[in-house]
Amino acid sequence: MKKSLTILAIESSCDETAAAVIINGQIKSSIIASQAQIHAKFGGVVPEVAARSHITAVIPTIDKTLKKARIKLTDLDFIAVTQGPGLATSLMVGVDTAKALGAVLNIPVIPINHLEAHIYANFMNHESQIMNQKFPALILTVSGGHTMLILMSGHGRYKIVGQTVDDAAGEAFDKTAKMLGLGYPGGPQIAKLAKRGNPQAFDFPRPMINSANLNFSFSGLKTAVLYKIMEHKSWNMKQKANLAASVQQAIIDVLISKLEKAVKKFKPKTIMLGGGVAANEMLRSRFSKLGKKYHLPYSIPKFEYCTDNAAMIGLAAYYKITKHVTRNTKHNFSAQPNLALK
Ligand code: KG4
Ligand code: ZN
Repeated sequence: MKKSLTILAIESSCDETAAAVIINGQIKSSIIASQAQIHAKFGGVVPEVAARSHITAVIPTIDKTLKKARIKLTDLDFIAVTQGPGLATSLMVGVDTAKALGAVLNIPVIPINHLEAHIYANFMNHESQIMNQKFPALILTVSGGHTMLILMSGHGRYKIVGQTVDDAAGEAFDKTAKMLGLGYPGGPQIAKLAKRGNPQAFDFPRPMINSANLNFSFSGLKTAVLYKIMEHKSWNMKQKANLAASVQQAIIDVLISKLEKAVKKFKPKTIMLGGGVAANEMLRSRFSKLGKKYHLPYSIPKFEYCTDNAAMIGLAAYYKITKHVTRNTKHNFSAQPNLALK
């Protein structure tokens, strides 16, 4: 009997075309073709441009990842692909490619929820401190499209206990960067600039920080930033750095405060961080401090697995195959732009 379990994972939910090979739960290769430069001139992702770039990049990216893992298509046992949430036309490219390959190779194709995959970026065999973590786990997922607190009671079992009622935290970073005339994506630019600024320079609102529930809101912060920027005709670099540091501080204060509230309420056995904003150094540091304060095992994905990648898609599939969930062998699913985490 064949002992190894080889998965090709494909991710195309937004503006990164990514493919990875996972063998027995280990990442053998992970390739990302980023479209960031293409979208930078528009100041954000243009869906049709993204879809066409995925069509161009998807097969070369798969080829590269197979070569790097030193395997052939015929070595694959499963294909995993992001089904949603994301941009419809971007998702379709990955889903169609995965299903076509699955049909030709006569192997199962597993649809994966992108949000679930961000959680599974914490389950990396080679270096995670908490591979055998205990449930329930509390996860703070922060990306360009989502801000959520998720209680995970076991593999594949989730309850959303808090989420944004308007903008996502990543969006607040991106829009601030856009207003300051910085590049796209904005999060890393704000974080870089913030290092040179004073986080107390501007007293921005911390929306819903004192509300009883675990929800978030970032649209008021965005408006406050806009009004502040309009107060001056031009902004020098020092002022921009102060503004970046103050906005970053406001966003992270809210995230950490709600996380702490959730820790007290649910008393999880472990906490995890996920999504593109998890690449933010200040958030990583405040998150680990909170873990230490409550003597909780905590996990933060390796830097390169925070933003969109296919390795996390493959890992989510690996756990679905080995731990619990049925596999879809019929290739009968479609892209779901609004796919919920259930
Ligand atoms: O998970 P992701 O790659 O895509 C979505 O699923 O949305 O997250 C992208 C988001 C963007 O908003 C980006 O600005 C933000 O993650 N981001 C950061 C940093 N790196 C990426 N935000 C703050 N600080 C960073 N270092
Ligand atoms: Zn993402």
